[in-house]
Amino acid sequence: MKHIFLIGFMGCGKSTIARKLSSQLGLPQIEMDEQIVKEQGMPITEIFEKYGEPHFRDIETDLLKRLCEQEDAVVSCGGGAVLRKENIEMMKAAGRIVLLTAKPETILERVKHNNDRPVLNGHMNVEYISELMEKRRACYEAAADFVVATDGKSIEQICDEICNIKC
Ligand code: S3P
Repeated sequence: MKHIFLIGFMGCGKSTIARKLSSQLGLPQIEMDEQIVKEQGMPITEIFEKYGEPHFRDIETDLLKRLCEQEDAVVSCGGGAVLRKENIEMMKAAGRIVLLTAKPETILERVKHNNDRPVLNGHMNVEYISELMEKRRACYEAAADFVVATDGKSIEQICDEICNIKC
């Protein structure tokens, strides 16, 4: 099994890169968040509000388990998918894990007008993003087979880097 899992902080560009990379590699693209919304029939903010974050994490783990058993794909993971060790183990067994990184300032620019990320709602500032990124750093780094820094790079450059890694 050789899935490509794109991981990284919210707003680091996973979905955009997954879209381009999947067409470049001729693999299906899977958006974990989109699939969760579709399957649960409600937005992620509502899942958090009604059932709490641990329940959302259970849904995420369950989806990941199913995805790992399906045909190869480029999977754009939710930013918190690496918070559970079992998720990392499943991804490692099913393919390669590419961590996309970006500066907190870049992240803020990309997410600030969006209110569909419950983890950031009410905390749209560089300080909070930096702190959370720091807290999660060890999880991201433990999961990553490869790291691609995205600041100042075009979508094409980032995808080429990932394709080169793959070879
Ligand atoms: C989350 C990231 C989101 C989504 C949920 C929680 C997180 O995905 O799964 O809001 O904890 O980092 P994106 O990284 O695609 O925004």
